[in-house]
Amino acid sequence: MPTVRWPEEGLEIEVPIGTDLRTAGKLAHAQQGDACGGKCACSTCHVYVLAGRELLAEADEDEEDTLDKGFDVRANSRLACQAKVAREGLVTLSISRESRESFYNEHADEAPPGWREARPAK
Ligand code: FES
Repeated sequence: MPTVRWPEEGLEIEVPIGTDLRTAGKLAHAQQGDACGGKCACSTCHVYVLAGRELLAEADEDEEDTLDKGFDVRANSRLACQAKVAREGLVTLSISRESRESFYNEHADEAPPGWREARPAK
């Protein structure tokens, strides 16, 4: 089975082909936000694909449009809820700041103390 890894979190999980990265993140307990519940409407599941981008199904127009509304979007950005693992191999991810902050908003009990105050000024 394909493997999805979050090296900064020390997390890794094997998932069946066809699994989206939001589901993989939930199974691995990664701190990825998903404010819209995976409906491609919020960009809070924004992740950076560090390796294995070629193992993912191509982004469709809806994903690209929603990703355009995200923060700090890069060439390797994907929406975890839309990006499905399509081939065997290792996909390595980094969680975007907006996704992690969304996760903390949704799971205050897992947020480090003072994380709101520690954010750099915009
Ligand atoms: S969870 Fe909202 S766009 Fe992915």
